[in-house]
Amino acid sequence: MEFNTDIINLFDKQWALVTAGSPEDFNTMTISWGGIGTLWSRPVATVYVKPVRYTHEFMERNEFFTVSFYGPQHKKALGILGSRSGRDCDKVKLSGLTPVPAAHGTVTFAEAERTLVCRKLYSHDMVLGAIPEDARETYYCTEEPHTLYIGEILD
Ligand SMILES: Cc1cc2nc3c(=O)[nH]c(=O)nc-3n(C[C@H](O)[C@H](O)[C@H](O)COP(=O)(O)O)c2cc1C
Repeated sequence: MEFNTDIINLFDKQWALVTAGSPEDFNTMTISWGGIGTLWSRPVATVYVKPVRYTHEFMERNEFFTVSFYGPQHKKALGILGSRSGRDCDKVKLSGLTPVPAAHGTVTFAEAERTLVCRKLYSHDMVLGAIPEDARETYYCTEEPHTLYIGEILD
């Protein structure tokens, strides 16, 4: 697999979508935290999803998920998918992105520049007491800490 990119800025500046579920029943949300690397001798992608997100339910229920990346012309769409909940509205329709089937029964979007199809290898709820105090105060005053999902990149 070839993936030449500015890895530090990839999530932080470019953002991405994490999508779980089947073409018939999926949800997606914007992420700006994540990573790509190696674990247990496999290429992996790691994403962090708060339990309060609707997408969390789909991450829990499904074995596979996708992480997809977009050009700057789609930033507005990612803004919508990162501020509206699939619980309350058809935010995919609002975003204007086009869902398309991907490998292993997953979903990505026609507008994606690149999609990683991942199989969940490991998930873990972050432990509040183990999080640095400044991050605890900034990110977890009112919401439960993120669940981290590590997925083997298959495609
Ligand atoms: C730029 C950006 C980055 C985000 N990154 C994350 C993230 O890494 N993890 C997370 O849990 N939420 C993140 N969010 C928030 C979710 O995308 C947002 O709450 C979304 O509306 C959840 O949708 P859902 O309820 O349909 O799952 C981010 C939002 C934006 C705008």
